[in-house]
Amino acid sequence: MASTITHTVLAVLLCVLAVVARTNLDKQSSDFNLSKILPLFDEDGICNLVVEKQGYVCQEHKVITKDGYILSLQRIPEGRAGKAANKIPVLLQHGLLMDAVSWMINSPDESLAFILADNGFDVWLANTRGTNYSRGHTSVDPNDPSYWDWSWDELVAYDLPATVQYVHDQTGQKLHYVGHSLGTLIAFAAFSQEKLLNSIRSAALLSPIAYLAQMSSFLAKTAADAFIAEDLYWLGIKEFAPRGEAAVKLLEDICKNPENNCSDLMTSFTGPNCCVNSSKTNDFLDHEPQSTATKNMIHLAQMIRQGTIAMYDYGSADENNKHYGQPTPPVYNMSSIPKNLPLFLSYGGQDYLSDVDDVKTLLNALKDHDADKLLTQYREDYAHADFVFGENAKQVVYDPLMAFFMLQ
Ligand SMILES: *[C@@H]1O[C@H](CO)[C@@H](O)[C@H](O)[C@H]1NC(C)=O
Ligand SMILES: *[C@@H]1O[C@H](CO)[C@@H](O)[C@H](O)[C@H]1NC(C)=O
Ligand SMILES: *[C@@H]1O[C@H](CO)[C@@H](O)[C@H](O)[C@H]1NC(C)=O
Ligand SMILES: *[C@@H]1O[C@H](CO)[C@@H](O)[C@H](O)[C@H]1NC(C)=O
Ligand SMILES: *[C@@H]1O[C@H](CO)[C@@H](O)[C@H](O)[C@H]1NC(C)=O
Repeated sequence: MASTITHTVLAVLLCVLAVVARTNLDKQSSDFNLSKILPLFDEDGICNLVVEKQGYVCQEHKVITKDGYILSLQRIPEGRAGKAANKIPVLLQHGLLMDAVSWMINSPDESLAFILADNGFDVWLANTRGTNYSRGHTSVDPNDPSYWDWSWDELVAYDLPATVQYVHDQTGQKLHYVGHSLGTLIAFAAFSQEKLLNSIRSAALLSPIAYLAQMSSFLAKTAADAFIAEDLYWLGIKEFAPRGEAAVKLLEDICKNPENNCSDLMTSFTGPNCCVNSSKTNDFLDHEPQSTATKNMIHLAQMIRQGTIAMYDYGSADENNKHYGQPTPPVYNMSSIPKNLPLFLSYGGQDYLSDVDDVKTLLNALKDHDADKLLTQYREDYAHADFVFGENAKQVVYDPLMAFFMLQ
């Protein structure tokens, strides 16, 4: 029984949202020669595959992080009505196991990326290292385990600053930031270190994640408690590939067992989303979920187990000393987020990952924030995925979000 549960949890975690077993994605051939990569991405990137099909102008951009990762970034410079003057840039940062396409699964009238473009914003879409269109590196192949030697600490230290700086340089403007889930965590961490502030106008944080102690996703919690990500890591599986052959096979085997209800993994993991239309499931599965580093999953599991928001824990005082010069990992202090930084926080009552009690812990850490710089929105019926895929998210979240941006 215990082992059945462990295996179910393992399968679910591996396949988080891959409800339908799909053939694993082609291992994109890694090519360290940037001049070869660039044309490839232009023809076969998110602009071409997703954005232009909806009738929008789109540009592919590349950003190289200080530690050598080559990230793709898409820009939607104008809406369907064409050019407008004085556009303010907005950077959208997706969540865990997602990529930029997640902001464009619904119709243009329902998807945040297109809504922002149609409302006069200059839209930039980030893609985290390791996802399908950001698997380049100046010297390391994604098939090399060292490519995957990172957790969200490195997204805070490298991906986010490189991306924000790039948009700032290209536009000559300070930008608005929108993060979902892990995209909020890395922003909170960076802001707590007083980073990015010269380039950011304001930040909207949807399904905010800073503390994970109360998280009510039984599956994620059990996986964390069972050290499943650690097991994978020590087995040598450094790329956490939810569409990988091993994961799909495992899921198929698990779901053959009538004891296991595989009908609704999305709900089991993210909560009962009120407003996600299941007719979009296939479009979603064409693009998501995406890979991350197993080490990143371990880091998140540490947060669930320890209730802290700190750097990756190397597991012993000695190892932590080597990396940090102190026996325990340095903490990201949420109370250090500058009090005058305009923040829009939106959270949901049904969210299994961004639990209401954890959000309250965060809001308590922000209690001295300038009152007119912090707008908090609570939606009783929203779960984790509704903030990105909800059919009514425009009315519920995005309209207030844009109104907030206009005031900053
Ligand atoms: C990269 O590829 C281009 C075009 O194929 C080639 O001209 C160039 O020499 C290559 N650079 C390196 C460092 O291999
Ligand atoms: C599986 O779960 C779904 C939704 O939670 C439920 O409707 C269905 O009856 C369950 N199936 C079984 C066999 O328990
Ligand atoms: C879901 O989307 C389909 C196709 O766009 C539409 O026909 C249907 O009415 C939607 N369902 C709900 C519950 O809104
Ligand atoms: C990955 O990128 C390739 C193009 O390079 C594309 O054909 C494929 O559909 C993408 N897969 C996913 C899951 O995004
Ligand atoms: C966190 O920052 C706040 C405000 O700067 C400070 O008062 C508090 O002592 C810090 N907490 C820790 C644990 O360092």
